[in-house]
Amino acid sequence: MTQPTEVKRAAVLGAGTIGASWAAWFLSRGIAVDVWDPRPEAEAYVRRYVAEAWPAMVRLGMTADASPDAWRFHATPEAAVADADVVQENAPERLPVKRELYARIDAALRPDAILASSTSGLIMSDMQAGFRSAARFAVGHPFNPPHLIPLVEVVGGRETAPGTVEWCLAFYKHIGKKPIHIRKEAAGHLANRLQAALWREAVSAVVTGLASVEDVDTAISAGPGLRWAAMGPHMTFHLGGGEGGIEHMLAQFKPVFESWWATMTTPDLSEANCRQIVDGVKAEAHGRSIAELTAARDAVLLPLLELTAKLG
Ligand SMILES: NC(=O)c1ccc[n+]([C@@H]2O[C@H](COP(=O)([O-])OP(=O)(O)OC[C@H]3O[C@@H](n4cnc5c(N)ncnc54)[C@H](O)[C@@H]3O)[C@@H](O)[C@H]2O)c1
Repeated sequence: MTQPTEVKRAAVLGAGTIGASWAAWFLSRGIAVDVWDPRPEAEAYVRRYVAEAWPAMVRLGMTADASPDAWRFHATPEAAVADADVVQENAPERLPVKRELYARIDAALRPDAILASSTSGLIMSDMQAGFRSAARFAVGHPFNPPHLIPLVEVVGGRETAPGTVEWCLAFYKHIGKKPIHIRKEAAGHLANRLQAALWREAVSAVVTGLASVEDVDTAISAGPGLRWAAMGPHMTFHLGGGEGGIEHMLAQFKPVFESWWATMTTPDLSEANCRQIVDGVKAEAHGRSIAELTAARDAVLLPLLELTAKLG
């Protein structure tokens, strides 16, 4: 098995939003990339995506041998994985699609290659079941866009060898990501469950008339969201307890949080409720395009990433 610190070639299977972004990040770390996607326009999409992402890659620092051109587009997934030390799979989020792809590449993978799936929440045990290379399959779930957001969640399935999970953790760390080990399989892994919990309440707030979409968003981006870039919810509450820390926070707020939790309900995503969210988001966007909103987000993200990297 190639050492996680010595990966020279990565295959990217599925080059949409996530695959193209992974390609940009791997290239910036001096790793050559072999891409396959069934969509004929995907090659041009990756070229454009890498070109647009490259200034950010330069700003965030690259390895000396990094080149935005060190990638090839292949006609089949079998050809794309043939030389890869590691495969990052980013096919659509549907179990049969992922399994069909794994069936095609199972015999084409190098016998020591690792496959990491970007799946947002499928269960690896279901995805890998029965494949010859299953012991070398794990989840390596990034956050959009993977070329900027450091978090990668690593989860093994029933047939995953413990060494595969360790390899993925070491590999992502080596290429400058912040991997965490999720110890059990769960739909949505961890970070998406946390997002889903917050978004459930955010949708609820809108459809029950508590606040507008824009004000709900401001409640996070101008409030706790700023603190969450510095530290997570548990440590944030340690500070919320003042000198007494988390013990004092719990002593004071335990019954309060329990009473709030008791009032929280799950909204349904009915057509009318979805319409209310869509209309609210459109009003908040004030006519700005997705590209303009992405640029506005990245204008905050990049300096934030530089700052958090500097502070360690
Ligand atoms: N979008 C996100 O925010 C996000 C974040 C983290 C992880 N993910 C995960 O990444 C994966 C890809 O999601 P995405 O948002 O990039 O989707 P996407 O629709 O943007 O891209 C999917 C790509 O897969 C290609 N494709 C279609 N059939 C395929 C097949 N059989 N094999 C390989 N590729 C195929 C499509 O042509 C397309 O280019 C999913 O598993 C998703 O859960 C998405």
